[in-house]
Amino acid sequence: MQLVNGFTLMDYAKKEGLVLPAFNTTNYELTSGIIKGYQAAGRGGYIAISSSNLKLSSPKIIADMVNSVMKDVSVPIALHLDHGKSFADVKACIDAGFTSIMVDASHLPFEENVEEVKRTVEYCHFYGIPVEAELGAIGGKEDDHISEEDAKTNAADVQEFVERTNCDLLAVSIGNVHGMDLTPNLDFPLLEEIAQLSAVPLVLHGGSGIPFDQVRRAKEQNLIKVNYGSDLRQAFIRTFGQAYELNHNEFDIMALSKAAIESVEDRVKAIIAEING
Ligand code: G3H
Ligand code: ZN
Repeated sequence: MQLVNGFTLMDYAKKEGLVLPAFNTTNYELTSGIIKGYQAAGRGGYIAISSSNLKLSSPKIIADMVNSVMKDVSVPIALHLDHGKSFADVKACIDAGFTSIMVDASHLPFEENVEEVKRTVEYCHFYGIPVEAELGAIGGKEDDHISEEDAKTNAADVQEFVERTNCDLLAVSIGNVHGMDLTPNLDFPLLEEIAQLSAVPLVLHGGSGIPFDQVRRAKEQNLIKVNYGSDLRQAFIRTFGQAYELNHNEFDIMALSKAAIESVEDRVKAIIAEING
């Protein structure tokens, strides 16, 4: 199956009543585990790569790799640019065949965030690709993106931001944090307020570590997408770490890579099953 367009994937989520995961990839093994997990679960969602992570390869390498792994897949999957940091990255990803885009200008003052998102939306909509924007800053660490700030989304800005930018999905900061070992404490009254004010569905970053019952509760507030990065990376790395602990002379990279793919696939299946109950 070919990658699906992000708008088609959003329609699928609405029709099926699902909150969709977005799993961050880095390399072939993570990509393979994520896509196998989707297929085994029988449900679709996003595979994503952040601007920071693209420094290791390129949008074209990632798109080619995802497309080739997609060959035997029958569930809808969109390829998403996560935390798009520059207009150049956005363009390169669209050129490479990405089917969904995030522009992250949340570190900028409100007016500059609006302007950056607006021009990205105009560009991406010309190509029929949806755009996720972020309002409020999510704390924690993702790749080499570290935010000391943890500024919750200001509900009073939501309606204006969505109207002026014409974005298609809105990532919110409601106590969610990037990284594994932080204990997020979601502000549900704020989420409810934002959901009332946003004309577009909401996105939660920092999925790793958020208790699944909280994700299911957030789903009731027009949540369409929840991002997972650290959780799968830990499943992947743990396979190699444990093997090394057992035998410092271990060098069977092929067997360990296969095992790492399987552990990523298992986490993907488990997360998909949990977030929709
Ligand atoms: O954009 C990706 C995520 O927000 C991942 O966050 O590493 O806490 O799961 P996480
Ligand atoms: Zn994120």
